[in-house]
Amino acid sequence: MQGGIPAWEPLSAEVLADQRGSHDRMRAACPVAQSPRGVTLFRHADVLAAASDPVTFSSAASTFRQIPNSLDGPEHAAYRALIDGFFTPQRMGALEPRIRACAHALMAALPRGTLIDAVTDIGYPFAIRAQADWLGWQGVEVELLAWLADSHEATRSADRSRTDAAAAAFDDIVAAQIRRRRALGAAAPRDPTAELLDVRICGRPLTDAEVVSILRNWTAGDLGSIAASLGVAIHFLAAHPDIQSALRAAPGELAPAIDEMLRIDDPFLVNRRVVTATTRVAGFTLAAGTRVYLNWASANRDERVFGDPDAYQPREHARHNLVYGAGVHVCPGRPLATLELVVAVEALLRGTSRIVLAPGESLERETYPSGGWRRVPILLS
Ligand code: HEM
Repeated sequence: MQGGIPAWEPLSAEVLADQRGSHDRMRAACPVAQSPRGVTLFRHADVLAAASDPVTFSSAASTFRQIPNSLDGPEHAAYRALIDGFFTPQRMGALEPRIRACAHALMAALPRGTLIDAVTDIGYPFAIRAQADWLGWQGVEVELLAWLADSHEATRSADRSRTDAAAAAFDDIVAAQIRRRRALGAAAPRDPTAELLDVRICGRPLTDAEVVSILRNWTAGDLGSIAASLGVAIHFLAAHPDIQSALRAAPGELAPAIDEMLRIDDPFLVNRRVVTATTRVAGFTLAAGTRVYLNWASANRDERVFGDPDAYQPREHARHNLVYGAGVHVCPGRPLATLELVVAVEALLRGTSRIVLAPGESLERETYPSGGWRRVPILLS
């Protein structure tokens, strides 16, 4: 054990059975805890401080080069400048009607009065259709859905050969999209995938490996986040009929409302860092080389900042909300995620008069590396 840091095991059956409750208990008992994989920071102040100090807390914590996630310093800034240009308000405004059409089509086709699962019947299909539409990947929805299911199973199995195979399968899907656009040349559609083949970094085009890495971070991880976030938001609405009614009457409030639902029950649990020079966190010494987990889900429920972590106060809590991270690695995809989530929830509310949790059906929690729900049985009317 390093520097007297208490131990915990985030993959133990006890923690997996109730991740949110475990984080709450850990945060109350100790600001940091150590597992064989690294030191987890639980408190808002410590997570925010580490995310805001990328020199001491480097993002080069993974074995693979991930663009831009695993980069630091000026190299990271150069790729971020390029990537941020894909999520401008103008681009999001132009995309909105297509995402809206996608959401309306999906919500209109959902059965009324019959048991459905908010995660698999709404979250995944919407996330895949919206992302495929944005990227111009028409015709791969079925393949992506199958991949997402495989990838989830592989992650749960914790079997390295299965997760490697899932990653390779995803790279094949992306590589086929790149080949198609290269073959079409000037006739290729002007979608974000084709645009990535044209952008330049330090005066040269991106390599195929870089394009694949960027697209992997835009899709592989984020399909899951959008699907899981929809599961959390729909569960929250079904479990809080008063808030559901208020939002039906004021859909303009949906963006801060969804951010607050995700703060209370954050599906995006942790990101990793590696300490570059001996430092202290909450009175504990972390040696250079220590792997650190920024636990966003716990930080977002810190009583020191939010009082009662379950109190729903969108406007009051917005300033401290860490759902999309903080510092130089703060999520560049937030405008797209917010657009997709708001449009999907608005379409669901407009297309229904009531969303309820299905009586007698059990909810299932998602487990590490994700939070939120695996199954949210609901009835629409
Ligand atoms: C509800 C959905 C989402 C959530 C909760 C979320 C959350 C986050 C968080 C917490 C980070 C910080 C990572 C860190 O500090 O290491 C992050 C980074 C990132 N997100 Fe998102 N994200 C979402 C959707 C998206 C979408 C839709 C995209 C792109 C299409 C995206 C692309 C990225 C990328 C590329 C990074 C790395 C940024 C960097 O390292 O500079 N995210 N996201």
